[in-house]
Amino acid sequence: MPVQRIHLPVVDRAPPPPVTAVGAGPLIDRFLRTVRYLRISVTDRCNYRCTYCMPDEIEFRPRAELLTFEELARIAAVFAQGGVERIRLTGGEPTVRADLVDLVAMLARTPGIRELAMTTNGHILADLAAPLRAAGLTELNVSIDTVDADRFREVTRRGDLARVIAGIDAARAAGLGVKLNAVALRGVNDDEIAALCAFAWDRGLVMRFIEHMPMSSGALYAPERELGAAAIREAVTARFGALVPSTAGAAPRGPARYWHLAADPRREVGIISAMTEHFCDACNRVRLSATGDLHACLGHDDAISLRDVLRAGGSDDHIRGAIAASLGAKRAGHEFLSSGAGGPTKHMVAIGG
Ligand code: 5AD
Ligand code: SF4
Repeated sequence: MPVQRIHLPVVDRAPPPPVTAVGAGPLIDRFLRTVRYLRISVTDRCNYRCTYCMPDEIEFRPRAELLTFEELARIAAVFAQGGVERIRLTGGEPTVRADLVDLVAMLARTPGIRELAMTTNGHILADLAAPLRAAGLTELNVSIDTVDADRFREVTRRGDLARVIAGIDAARAAGLGVKLNAVALRGVNDDEIAALCAFAWDRGLVMRFIEHMPMSSGALYAPERELGAAAIREAVTARFGALVPSTAGAAPRGPARYWHLAADPRREVGIISAMTEHFCDACNRVRLSATGDLHACLGHDDAISLRDVLRAGGSDDHIRGAIAASLGAKRAGHEFLSSGAGGPTKHMVAIGG
């Protein structure tokens, strides 16, 4: 899917003149939001085919187009100089990228990065959790949309619930901070909200629900499947009693809003309510695709190629200039509508959520 490119600072083989106006100060977008969080997709491939994420027809990008580990580490360092403190690796499925552990070790050495996280489907996590932790990974989000093995296979089309559970337990044993994510879909897992919470809480973990967003031009989205934050909270309350908002830590921990059981503050549930309760005004993140396109907003197709800057011989100043151009054009927010309109043409599997 071609990305819509806005201002490209590099148009020729010769490196462009230095971008002197852009120093190594904080990364601030045109709505004065500070970027402190970078999501990096390391591959557009996935070993699962979740029905709500992966279109039937998808063309993967040739491997030569992917950023190398050295290119990724260089871009990460420039972001860290600009005040980014947290990096999350996503995909596709990040664990299908060869030698991922080496990349984690490289990124973990970046000065200024204090949290190095990953989002995974958990399929090969049982083997990877300990090496990832040893390489410097700190946090892991594992997707688990259902705790019913047959349903899990249906939703993921090739997934294996037992393997994912083994992966979750290996990650906990390795000392990683683990959160569980489920995309909430009416008619798919709306009857499992309480069961998913119980599964997470039995392991001392936070359960998070994500409202389905209309990526892929809405092709995988169905309005009747919308399961909003209010309905999710009601399902939890009906089974476990009252919820109260969590206020632990002064700053919000990203787009998820958290609640816990009034009866037990350790039983926590997070909801990422992109559709029904927007959070764009507090957005602190940008996303880098596996091919090096910097997407300032998940909900729009605008992107600037940092790979082009690097491969034209650009300096760190040039990278900073391209990042600044991206932030200067960052949208106020997504325009997702409950009808399924208003989203980007890009696929979630290519940008990693
Ligand atoms: N809307 C919301 N979440 C989605 N995910 C995949 N597609 C969508 C979508 N359209 C989730 C995955 C994973 C995370 C990276 O994004 O389940 O948890
Ligand atoms: Fe499923 Fe995640 Fe793979 Fe998408 S990227 S198909 S949500 S496992």
